[in-house]
Order: sequence, then C-alpha cells, then structure tokens
Amino acid sequence: MEKPAHHLFVCGSFRANGAPAGACVKKDSLALVQYLQEEVDSRGLTGVLVSMTGCLNACVHGPVVIDYPAGHWYKNVTPSAAEEILDAIENDTVAEAHLMRS
Ligand code: FES
Repeated sequence: MEKPAHHLFVCGSFRANGAPAGACVKKDSLALVQYLQEEVDSRGLTGVLVSMTGCLNACVHGPVVIDYPAGHWYKNVTPSAAEEILDAIENDTVAEAHLMRS
C-alpha cells in the first residue's frame, strides 16, 4: 500500500477505557466518516484515505478532522465543510474557513 498524500483522520471520540464519548461523536462524526469516504470515492480522489480516530483532545471544536501529513486541523466539520476540505485537497489549497487556529 502506498502512503496517502492526504490521510483524513476523523475523530470518533473513542476512549481507551470505554465507549465513545465526547463532542465529535455526539455531533455525528461517525456519519461524517461515511460521508467523506463516499465523497472521496465519488470524486475519484486517489491518494486520499479516511480513517476514524480516538479523541483528539480538542473536543470543544468537534467534529475534528486532521489532514495528515499536511498538519491541517479542521474544526466543526459538517458535511458542507467536508466538501470544502475535499475541494481544497483537489485544488492543492487549504480550507481556511474551517481551520482550527488554537
Ligand atoms: S471527542 Fe473529538 S476531539 Fe475529543
């Protein structure tokens, strides 16, 4: 397997010692994973991988998505924001409006 140019990590709020709990899963981040994957497939984006993670310790900004290895952290990611993030990936830019700044 080749390393993806963009690995999108979507917070699934998982905790090491129990069930998912936190802002991201409460704001439907599980559905966001499926949505992103379907959009990646629909757009035919190669080099983009979508995965779910445990809590990223930025709960107040949830749902949180990290674009790795670029290092962009996106906050409050809705399906609409996800579209803009994928647009930015396609255009080799950054979805500035959704960046987490702190
Ligand atoms: S639950 Fe997503 S950052 Fe903590």
